[in-house]
Amino acid sequence: MTDQKVIWITGASSGIGRAAALRFANAGYALILSARDLEALEEVKAQCPTSDHVKILGLDLAKSEEMPNKTQEAIAMFGKIDILLHNAGISQRSLIKETALSVDRKLMEINFFGTVALTKAILPHFIQNQQGHFGVVSSLVGKFGTPYRSAYAASKHALHGFFDTLRAEHFQDHITVTLICPGFIRTNVSINALTADGSPLNEMDEAQEKGMKPEDCAEEIFKAINRKKEEVLIGGKETYAVYLKRFFPTLFSKILNKAKVR
Ligand SMILES: NC(=O)c1ccc[n+]([C@@H]2O[C@H](COP(=O)([O-])OP(=O)(O)OC[C@H]3O[C@@H](n4cnc5c(N)ncnc54)[C@H](OP(=O)(O)O)[C@@H]3O)[C@@H](O)[C@H]2O)c1
Repeated sequence: MTDQKVIWITGASSGIGRAAALRFANAGYALILSARDLEALEEVKAQCPTSDHVKILGLDLAKSEEMPNKTQEAIAMFGKIDILLHNAGISQRSLIKETALSVDRKLMEINFFGTVALTKAILPHFIQNQQGHFGVVSSLVGKFGTPYRSAYAASKHALHGFFDTLRAEHFQDHITVTLICPGFIRTNVSINALTADGSPLNEMDEAQEKGMKPEDCAEEIFKAINRKKEEVLIGGKETYAVYLKRFFPTLFSKILNKAKVR
């Protein structure tokens, strides 16, 4: 078993997950990188300071039934896992009235049920070790809903309910949770977002284009996980919306009704 801290990162092939992988690698962590695109994961591995402590494990969150075996494979890679960063996910750009139910289900399947299946698979390992940390990449829309993101917002809200409960149920096992709520981060998230019929948007949203660099987001994630913060908001002035919604909900609704953000 390695002496290094081991972090398993899902969605490490692109965007925030890729940047987080490089940040943790630079800090001397051993890494397990997961996603579907193995070639992209190899590229991330090649950019790490040393490839000796970086393993690749292909994973499709839509295949919940595979999570127990994948988790055993992941644990065997370094003999233990200290941190699981649940980062993989897909977004949405479509109105409720136009969106096929199959698209709502797909968003829940990947963002919520896939994440839950992986959590249940690794939980016995964390309980046995009497330590373990979950980083969970939610979104600002895990705190409120905005147009064009109904099922995406629902899937992220669901993660808050699930992981707030897990934190309380496993406090005595020294298992900790950081819920991470990014705003606009410059990644391919809008390009990959599902539209009403389930096809990808294939367009970079203006808000994402002007958003925070993934490397800066990864730095904030790194700090929040090291400090075991319970929840962190990451981004620009869009993060103020969380406080507006909490303390002035009617004003928040009025602003949202006029907002032009797709
Ligand atoms: N960018 C933002 O503005 C923003 C804001 C709030 C929250 N977020 C959240 O941040 C996380 C990372 O997104 P990103 O912005 O970095 O977007 P991204 O560049 O599109 O990256 C998404 C990652 O998720 C992986 N993924 C997608 N479907 C998967 C599946 N079925 N199984 C396994 N992995 C899958 C992708 O890898 P493969 O395609 O190789 O499988 C990719 O590595 C997501 O949870 C997203 O909801 C992003």
